[in-house]
Amino acid sequence: MPVALDLVEDILRLKKEKNAIILAHNYQVGPIQDLADYVGDSLGLAYQARETDAEVIAFCGVHFMAETAKILNPQKTVVLPDRDAGCSLEQACPAEDLQAYLDEHADKNYYVIAYINCSAGVKALCDVICTSGNAPTIVEKAPTDRPILFVPDANLGQWVMEQTGRKMDLWQGSCYVHVEFTRDSIDKIKQEYPDALVVAHPECTQAVRLLADEVCSTEKMISYCQNAASDNIIVVTESGMLHRLQKECPDKNLIPGPTDNCACADCRYMKMNTLEKLHACLENLAPQVTIPDSVQDRAEASLLKMLEQSR
Ligand code: 13P
Ligand code: SF4
Repeated sequence: MPVALDLVEDILRLKKEKNAIILAHNYQVGPIQDLADYVGDSLGLAYQARETDAEVIAFCGVHFMAETAKILNPQKTVVLPDRDAGCSLEQACPAEDLQAYLDEHADKNYYVIAYINCSAGVKALCDVICTSGNAPTIVEKAPTDRPILFVPDANLGQWVMEQTGRKMDLWQGSCYVHVEFTRDSIDKIKQEYPDALVVAHPECTQAVRLLADEVCSTEKMISYCQNAASDNIIVVTESGMLHRLQKECPDKNLIPGPTDNCACADCRYMKMNTLEKLHACLENLAPQVTIPDSVQDRAEASLLKMLEQSR
């Protein structure tokens, strides 16, 4: 679909007028990626949010990512195109449930590691945050004299255990998009492209990860595909990644990993953002992200610890 040039131009005008930066996750629709100042994974976006001089951050991603930007920049205005852009992992671990679990198991004295796909309330309850780009590094730096509780993604947690050899207790959350890839759906596409390499996100199930030549965060998929020995690469993650990869690796044939029902997988939350909503949020400086005072300092401390430990 052609993109209205005057809409793009007006977004760029508003961006200048409001002294804003546009940050976009790799799963955003192509037209948003194309006009963003920075496109990347959760870790890269957190660093960008921390380092920007802009007064306004327009965050094109899902709500927990915009919240992360606000926690790291309490004095800045953070807006997002659609307030309802949630995440099934965030929903799988409400802060009250985590608090109740920790109270019930107080004798364990857990060291809690939270995947960044969680609410500000959960970030405030944990010792450190991780992303898919640094999870093994963060887990390797955990104290060895305390048991680890890893929340909320059980698939990512299991992958990190395999990578590090550390045992962890896993919260049983999952990404509703990545669990749709199955051993059968990936096997079938591999038969169509027998020489293809497979790169998968660690939110996939173990059965799918076992079929992959590489398991990594969305940002690491770029360098993996650029340096891959084969021209054909099956990409097992959300569909928006293909747009970024096609730009960064124009010589490769990038094949979307199919699910049992679909040729490629869309995250309905990531796809709630549109150019029109981005324009409106810059114009009105709304909806804005706010963080309750009661969680700000503790959530910021666990995010800063992550940024420090993953350098
Ligand atoms: P990345 O940090 O690898 O971009 O992953 C974020 C995400 O939501 C994956 O579903
Ligand atoms: Fe959350 Fe999954 Fe969407 Fe990523 S793809 S934002 S983990 S629901």
